[in-house]
Amino acid sequence: MSRVDDYRLILGNKEIIPIMQGGMGVDISTSELALKMAELGGIGHISDAMAPYVSDKKFGTRLQNSKQKEFRQFADSLDKSAVKWDFARTYEGTLNHVRHTMEAKRGSGLVFVNLMEKLTMGNPAETLRARLMAAMDGGIDGITLSAGLHTGTLKLIEDQPRFRDVKIGIIVSSARALGVFLRSSARLNRYPDYVVVEGPLAGGHLGFGIDCLHQFNLRTLVEEVLALLKEENLSIPVIAAGGVFTGGDAVDFLRLGASAVQVATRFTISQECGFPSDVKQIYLLSKEEDVEVNLSSPTGYPMRMLKCSPSLSSNIKPNCEALGYILDKNGKCQYHQAWDAAGVDADGKKLPVTEKMCICYHFMRYNCYTCGHNVYRLKDTTVRMADGNYILPTAEHIFNDYRYSTGQQISLPSIAASEDEALRNGTNGTGPGAALNTIPRKSTTPAAV
Ligand SMILES: Cc1cc2nc3c(=O)[nH]c(=O)nc-3n(C[C@H](O)[C@H](O)[C@H](O)COP(=O)(O)O)c2cc1C
Repeated sequence: MSRVDDYRLILGNKEIIPIMQGGMGVDISTSELALKMAELGGIGHISDAMAPYVSDKKFGTRLQNSKQKEFRQFADSLDKSAVKWDFARTYEGTLNHVRHTMEAKRGSGLVFVNLMEKLTMGNPAETLRARLMAAMDGGIDGITLSAGLHTGTLKLIEDQPRFRDVKIGIIVSSARALGVFLRSSARLNRYPDYVVVEGPLAGGHLGFGIDCLHQFNLRTLVEEVLALLKEENLSIPVIAAGGVFTGGDAVDFLRLGASAVQVATRFTISQECGFPSDVKQIYLLSKEEDVEVNLSSPTGYPMRMLKCSPSLSSNIKPNCEALGYILDKNGKCQYHQAWDAAGVDADGKKLPVTEKMCICYHFMRYNCYTCGHNVYRLKDTTVRMADGNYILPTAEHIFNDYRYSTGQQISLPSIAASEDEALRNGTNGTGPGAALNTIPRKSTTPAAV
């Protein structure tokens, strides 16, 4: 029976194990996670979402903090049009994040950055330019464009010396969207180096209308994108994403003609993932009925998440003086209106804003539990301990499970190895449990294809 390890993704002169860990902002896909993927010969993503905040948190800079001070006089107003980013700060924050990551890179794999167009920061073109320049100057191996059609993105960086050498890819949810991007890239004679096709079972923002989600499936989307590339006579690797839960699921797509898979939900419970441990346990305990796709993101894109996400029952005041990552060029965010319209209780206290979330604040606090459709199957990928908690597998364990398992088998982390490790580390039993202990497990739902 074939397995992922029988295949390789060829990107330029590089031979990569065809497993790509998808970007998960804000700092859910940490540098540690992405670096482990590269060390193992695959591709890892960091995210540049709110990089100034990440830089402040990790490196003690004061990029976002100083912005908050500068604009604090607007805290009581919903007119945020004067709250502007100084893009030198955006550049510096992104550069810090990328450069520190790339300096620590080992192994034969690659580290890419996920870059969402929707983070418009009051000036869509300037923010994109600053973030792209910083990523390339910081030595990133590749840039995955997402959350938008990116028709003007490449033009912004055509003069950067690494423009033709850095790998550039785009996430699309239809052949039509890819066609639009290909037309803009043809004008610069700079075609993408890879295309990620993301289907309706993915986590994060989704590129489908909320009402027609069920009309699509990843297999058909991949076939349509492969057909379009063939028609255009373009040889560009296609990477399938969204609901690829087992090595067997991945092989199904590789057989179909995809060159790799992009996966994320399996890694949300890895030790290297940025979510706090208690959030990882919430993911592990989730059931299928706990998941919904809603329109609470003020970007306008539907997003899949656990219904118990604290972001769905919060009344936090818009905090764009410090944050403001998704303000449009008029200083507007859909959350402003929703917050303004929310009622107050008998004591005059703002009621929860259920319609939209303050996405910057809640992603910063890990309060939005976005997840792929298969989140409720995570419990089948690990072992529950006597105290009721699940072992958190290492990223290496999950990577190797995708790489070497066949069919719908899932390799469980060994509880003994985890406990030994916990004793050595003095941790609570959720330490690295990387030993591969392949136990055949029946998947609870059919494969995603
Ligand atoms: C917690 C989480 C956060 C995500 N954040 C982003 C993001 O910031 N940008 C993006 O393009 N995709 C994001 N995604 C989508 C993933 O990168 C990936 O393409 C998708 O989830 C793959 O499907 P899977 O989760 O079923 O494996 C996120 C997914 C998850 C689970």
